Amino acid sequence: MFTMQRWTFDARAQLRSSVRAYRDRLRTLALERVRTPYKAVRGPRLNRICHPEAWEDPSWMLYNRLLGMPQGEDRFHRKAFEWTQCVYGLETLGALGSEASVLGVGAGHECVLYYFANRSKITVALDLYRGAFAEGGAQEASPELLRSPERFAPFAYRREVLRAVPGDGTLLPFPTGSFDVVYSLSSIEHFGGHGGAARAMVEIGRVLRPGGVACIATEWILEGGEHPEYFTRSQFEEHVVKPSGLVPVEALDVTPPPRRFIDEPVWVLENVNVTPHLVLGIDQLRWTSVVVFLRKPRRVELWRPACAAIASHAVNSSSGAVARVRLRR
Ligand SMILES: C[S@@+](CC[C@H](N)C(=O)[O-])C[C@H]1O[C@@H](n2cnc3c(N)ncnc32)[C@H](O)[C@@H]1O
Repeated sequence: MFTMQRWTFDARAQLRSSVRAYRDRLRTLALERVRTPYKAVRGPRLNRICHPEAWEDPSWMLYNRLLGMPQGEDRFHRKAFEWTQCVYGLETLGALGSEASVLGVGAGHECVLYYFANRSKITVALDLYRGAFAEGGAQEASPELLRSPERFAPFAYRREVLRAVPGDGTLLPFPTGSFDVVYSLSSIEHFGGHGGAARAMVEIGRVLRPGGVACIATEWILEGGEHPEYFTRSQFEEHVVKPSGLVPVEALDVTPPPRRFIDEPVWVLENVNVTPHLVLGIDQLRWTSVVVFLRKPRRVELWRPACAAIASHAVNSSSGAVARVRLRR
């Protein structure tokens, strides 16, 4: 009796795991076939690594100025690039507006929160609001934001729209599909290495509604080796894009900044408060920022390629031989 029960249990577990593996494979195949909705006709590319060319584009510079970024010699800073690119991309994709719900993950008290408060129905800032970033000299996530967000506002904003929530980006306290836009800038790499970043990306994909847009900025390794928190191209695919279940809105432009920025980077162990601040370096390692926009496919977009994948699998597998015979008749 016991053996019989055990056998049934094992068989069920095996069946469940095969179904799960098959479903994951189908999902991956379907995601690969979902069409990218955006083609840059003019203006800067949306999915790209930090490049000084961005500052030459008038439409991009409009948002740069609206965010109050420096306009002088000190304008070349990758934080300015990330914030501007995030706003530029979301506006270009038409993701913002009076009905939009926006979530910032690892948002600290960054300036874009106040821009989104003026361009959404609700904007939620989520961060630990404790630990090194809340206390250290950098002060990028002051817990004061939970009490008096107006203290950090770089310009007038709609106060009733902005909410701040203490929370962990790897376990978002929101229901599935509850936001039109989720963004995270310079943060996922601090959530616990590549594994922590991947967990955050699963959560970001979950809380985004189908058809919604995510914007992610993180550290992109240009050359010189690897780092447990930063990403080479293949690591970016594996730990950021893939776990999200989202689809890039366009191909990633990996044109590096001009060579002089790489040869003379900002040496992070010496002094980071210098500009131009586009490429950072330690020993041989060089890195900069990457910004990508990803979209959550609607169910119907996944169904069509999933059905095509099932059909082609059936035709190619051994049972497909039967199918072929039947088809021929
Ligand atoms: C480099 S700061 C960037 C802050 C802000 N996004 C910006 O661009 O100014 C990294 C942020 O990630 C937050 N953070 C680190 N681990 C986190 C976690 N597990 N969940 C949520 N936020 C986290 C930190 O508190 C900090 O605010």
